[in-house]
Amino acid sequence: MKKILVCGAGGFIGGHLVKRLKADGHWVRGVDLKQHEFSELPADEFVIGDLREQSVCREVLDRPFDEIYQLAADMGGAGYIFTGEQDADVMHNSATINLNVVHQAQKVGVHKIFYSSSACMYPEYNQLDPDNPKCAEDSAYPAAPDSEYGWEKLFSERLYLSYARNYGMQIRIGRFHNIFGEEGTWQGGREKSPAALCRKVAEAPDGGAIEVWGDGLQTRSFLYIDECLEAVRRLMDSNFAEPINIGSEEMVTINRLAETVMEVAGKSLSLKHIEGPLGVRGRNSDNNLIREKLGWEPTMPLIDGIRKTYQWISAQVERQHSQSADRSYGTA
Ligand code: NAD
Ligand code: GDD
Repeated sequence: MKKILVCGAGGFIGGHLVKRLKADGHWVRGVDLKQHEFSELPADEFVIGDLREQSVCREVLDRPFDEIYQLAADMGGAGYIFTGEQDADVMHNSATINLNVVHQAQKVGVHKIFYSSSACMYPEYNQLDPDNPKCAEDSAYPAAPDSEYGWEKLFSERLYLSYARNYGMQIRIGRFHNIFGEEGTWQGGREKSPAALCRKVAEAPDGGAIEVWGDGLQTRSFLYIDECLEAVRRLMDSNFAEPINIGSEEMVTINRLAETVMEVAGKSLSLKHIEGPLGVRGRNSDNNLIREKLGWEPTMPLIDGIRKTYQWISAQVERQHSQSADRSYGTA
């Protein structure tokens, strides 16, 4: 049984990770700005706190945990990180969290930290062709991410790696490629395309239309949450100390993603392409390194993960509609 700290435990990946670590028999303290929105987490302790505050970091990082998983960040999908409107907050908030966490971890003698980086740190110039994006780990430099969110991830990767070099800490860095699943943000502006399209399809009447940002020919790959957690655990248990992609190689256009959701929902809808924040033109995980170093790769087809996610999001949509119907009945 290990003693583990999960930073960002009230979020999507952090919440699932707490459940997984508890199921594996570990003692877990979670910390986040907020409680988890969708689940009561089985964490042994859950601290509501702001990791931008050094005093909070001292409070939650008061002992040499066996492992830390650092997932806390000011983050969201294209609608949040590619408009430019959140750039200063994203950079300041996430960089401050990482500076505080790694500093305090070193002070109390934590040796092993997982840091959640992102595919957004890869250079835009390798992601202009939607059919042939290049995201091999060694293509990161010369650096040219297309968002401040990506630059912050790159900075923080280097921050953690410098602590490994100078203080002998064991750092593990996963570069996540669009992780999706149940209990992730599905409305409000931070949701990513899988959740956004599930919500739009669930809300649309059969035969209607849903809005898709851009021409829908931009490409991405999407990794289901359980596979993400499996990769993280394997990386933590390995000796591999360089950044590594954690993603799927099943690349699809956003139009194809929307069609997959419709197929699962059993609805026939048309796509209305509108202007919106787009990000890179194409992106796919390159899993050569994870196959070589961890002897593992994800296997779940996109449609299977979308089936689970759609079921959960359509239930949220239904619940919200019946709650607002109850409210308007109450005021009538
Ligand atoms: P999320 O937004 O659901 O979770 C992040 C959590 O961090 C939130 O619960 C938030 O409240 C918390 N947080 C933010 N600022 C904080 C602060 N100052 N103090 C304490 N907690 C704070 O996002 P997620 O999808 O679970 O992502 C987890 C990590 O993985 C993030 O670092 C994200 O950048 C990275 N990542 C995620 C994806 C993805 O597709 N989900 C892709 C690439 C990288
Ligand atoms: N969010 C969203 N909502 N995206 C849409 C929509 C919509 O309704 N319609 C079309 N899209 C398009 C976006 O314009 C973008 O081109 C593409 O779908 C993918 O958008 P997201 O899923 O929101 O984000 P992303 O893949 O560009 O980036 C995500 O993954 C990174 C890791 O690979 C983000 O979550 C980043 O935070 C993350 O680091």
